[in-house]
Amino acid sequence: MPVNASETAWWRDAVVYQVYPRSFADGTGDGVGDLPGLLARLPYLAALGVDAIWLSPWYRSPMADAGYDVADYRDIDPLFGTLSDATALVEAAHESGLRVIVDIVPNHCSDQHPWFRAALAAGPGSPERALFHFRPGLGPDGAQPPNDWPSSFGGCAWERVTEPDGTPGEWYLHLFSEAQPDFNWDRPEVRGEFESVLRFWLDRGVDGFRIDVANLLIKQEGLPARASLPPDAPSPYEDRPEVHEIYRAWRRIADSYPGGRIFVGELWVGRESLRRYLRPDELHTGFNFPYLQAPWQAEQLRAIIDGTLETHATVGAPATWVLGNHDVTRVVTRYGRVESSWALDGVRVHNAPVDLELGARRARAAALLYLALPGCAYVYQGEELGLWEVEDLPPELRQDPTLRQSGGADLGRDGCRVPLPWEADAPGFGFGPDEGAAPWLPQPPAWKTRAADVQDGDPESMLELYRAALRLRKTEDSLRGSDLTWLESADQVLFFGRGEEFACVVNFGPEPVPLPAHDAVLVSSAPIADGLLAADTAVWLRRRAAE
Ligand code: GLC
Repeated sequence: MPVNASETAWWRDAVVYQVYPRSFADGTGDGVGDLPGLLARLPYLAALGVDAIWLSPWYRSPMADAGYDVADYRDIDPLFGTLSDATALVEAAHESGLRVIVDIVPNHCSDQHPWFRAALAAGPGSPERALFHFRPGLGPDGAQPPNDWPSSFGGCAWERVTEPDGTPGEWYLHLFSEAQPDFNWDRPEVRGEFESVLRFWLDRGVDGFRIDVANLLIKQEGLPARASLPPDAPSPYEDRPEVHEIYRAWRRIADSYPGGRIFVGELWVGRESLRRYLRPDELHTGFNFPYLQAPWQAEQLRAIIDGTLETHATVGAPATWVLGNHDVTRVVTRYGRVESSWALDGVRVHNAPVDLELGARRARAAALLYLALPGCAYVYQGEELGLWEVEDLPPELRQDPTLRQSGGADLGRDGCRVPLPWEADAPGFGFGPDEGAAPWLPQPPAWKTRAADVQDGDPESMLELYRAALRLRKTEDSLRGSDLTWLESADQVLFFGRGEEFACVVNFGPEPVPLPAHDAVLVSSAPIADGLLAADTAVWLRRRAAE
């Protein structure tokens, strides 16, 4: 069924599927995923039962950071297709009942963006350079970076340029790789440009934007060194209060379009800060990363669920629930860490011992837990297939700039970006056409058992578990509200009701526990035997009326 444009509050309880375009499906046979590949797989997404897709950047880019380095915000990279492929995709998605959220990257662009090239050419003191953060270096010959800010990818956040006359010159700020210069958001030209980019895509029918590093745009005046600030001073480049004005202006733009156009902020901030971005005149939603970062542990997850719901309620925003994305270790692997899993809760721990069977069992239970919580849920591509992190990629094939920039300390994020397996018996597991090039990163042979076609119709598969849960999310009215009531349960068990008729029980402990009284089992992450809920298992129940 096509999208119903009159449902303007669709985003309050939507399930959004993250498409990482280069790894989703290759339609052209060059080994890299693209828009024709995605277009052909839209029926799969519609049948999965998600409400929307979010696409990681599809813009023209030299791909120094997999497209998060944008050279042209109004065009599609030829690797992925054309602008008309993009508009056709939006239209086809809408026809299939799927809304489309695109990524917007406002903190920085590519060093190949025309504005940055013009800034390099124009030299120090020029209005072109004022659109970025250029500064002279410190020390007698300016050979020291202007301050001590670090890049998120490791190393220093400044790069020195060679001036047009060939001499070593100013430095520019890049909170990510040196190929990603930060914009100066104090300049009205930058604000005007992004407002125009938003309109460009809203005019082409997109339903919303995921805002990349939404809390970093504003830098403290004077770019003070961190060492010069008191130890408890707020960060000079994160979560600055002036950023909210930007989003108020963006919200006015989104609200001027029909059909419920929305924002979801990538906000690696604490709960109190997150709340401020979600005030009614700012962003509709923001990613709830504390949930993603938490270990598989009942008490901690319960505390995060409570805290999340409480803070979101104060601003009337729906919570979001996330298990993974293209930046963090896949959930099967995270939850499968064998050494006291809660000591290893970092979002990117590499090569720690892992029990993939345990991780898969927990990931199944985790799916039923997070899909039963009030608000929106995000599915990162491949979670519905139970894919794990590919940890043994040969270093020479890894492409994420963090590997180089961190000096090898961080292996990077390629392990969660390996192309999807669609067909067990096709070359490249059907990622592209049979006669096409091999996928851009090698898939583990064991993914044969995870291919979408072998899971299709197998009631025990992760794919069928997701499909069943997403079907129930649509038909169970109680899952639509914002209520959640904790019910009495044993230690290491989470048991909550939604409305009068629905309950979810999750057993985090090592021993089976008796199921509470119920009228029916709606879906379970593992078979239920003798009325017992096994370790690391979750179940959705029809509650007994008198309970
Ligand atoms: C966000 C993206 C990440 C990217 C970074 C810089 O964190 O999710 O993939 O590298 O921003 O744009």
